[in-house]
Amino acid sequence: MVDKISVIGAGMVGGTTMQRLAEKELAKTVVVVDIVEGLPQGKALDEMEAAPIEGFDTEIIGTNDYKDIENSDIVIITSGMPRKPGMSRDDLLEKNVKIMKDVTEQVAKYSPNAIIIVVANPLDAMVYTAKKIGGFPDQKIMGQAGCLDSTRFARFIAWEAKCSVKAVQAMTLGGHGDDMVPLTSYSTVRGVPITKIFDKETIDRLVERTRKGGGEIVSLLKTGSAFFATASAVVQMVEAIVKDSHDILPCAVKTQGKYGLDPDLFVGLPAKLGKNGVEEVVELELTEEELNALKASAEHVRQLCNRIEELKLL
Ligand code: LAC
Repeated sequence: MVDKISVIGAGMVGGTTMQRLAEKELAKTVVVVDIVEGLPQGKALDEMEAAPIEGFDTEIIGTNDYKDIENSDIVIITSGMPRKPGMSRDDLLEKNVKIMKDVTEQVAKYSPNAIIIVVANPLDAMVYTAKKIGGFPDQKIMGQAGCLDSTRFARFIAWEAKCSVKAVQAMTLGGHGDDMVPLTSYSTVRGVPITKIFDKETIDRLVERTRKGGGEIVSLLKTGSAFFATASAVVQMVEAIVKDSHDILPCAVKTQGKYGLDPDLFVGLPAKLGKNGVEEVVELELTEEELNALKASAEHVRQLCNRIEELKLL
């Protein structure tokens, strides 16, 4: 358990993340900040009142004042607009860069030494924004997307195999867009690669549903995007950091030139997480097809980052 984890944004992702963090007692205090008066206070109080039943002693503070995040061990930035049906994540770029910039300035002011996890879209470009504005060390800044894409892939695999989700491992790399790269050879049922279990047509269907997984939820909800699985994915990363577990999770991290990618780019790669953040970007052996798909996805992220620069959004 760490002393303090702060969640910026008390919307559906922020609120659910706050709840999961508290119920797992990953910090002594969870702070949830939002600009809307009453919203973080209301969600914090409501969840604190669930504590006697759920049996957790984490204190939750809801606030509109960034000063309350001072000296956080971890800060999770969820602020940003969700997409509406028919929109791509990229359509959020200009609005969310502006929000990310304002929020990051506050986070860097009050918690410059925290480990930062970004959860706003378009995800990889938002991590780039937060890094540029906040100047956090590479090891301490990352984005959450791959864990969400991978849990979706795992869910669909388990349904297809009619097995428990507990038997499934899945790994999805690349940018958090429709060109993400679900790795079929590293996705398994009890260690058996799905390429040995399903035919190509079935795998293509599962991969396609994973790629479009975010959009599937948006078109059902109509007024927002996914938050239950999103919060679970964030907390999976937080748990690896807090427990110093060295788990290897797909996160949007600085590539360091691994996989032959642009060293300055943040994109979804397998990262070993521990108490200091990203301990290692793990270089897996990929098929030529997977590597090409990863490069194409990273190129897409590069173009979004270029657009941020061209439009002088920072
Ligand atoms: C998703 C959005 C939140 O994938 O990016 O659900």
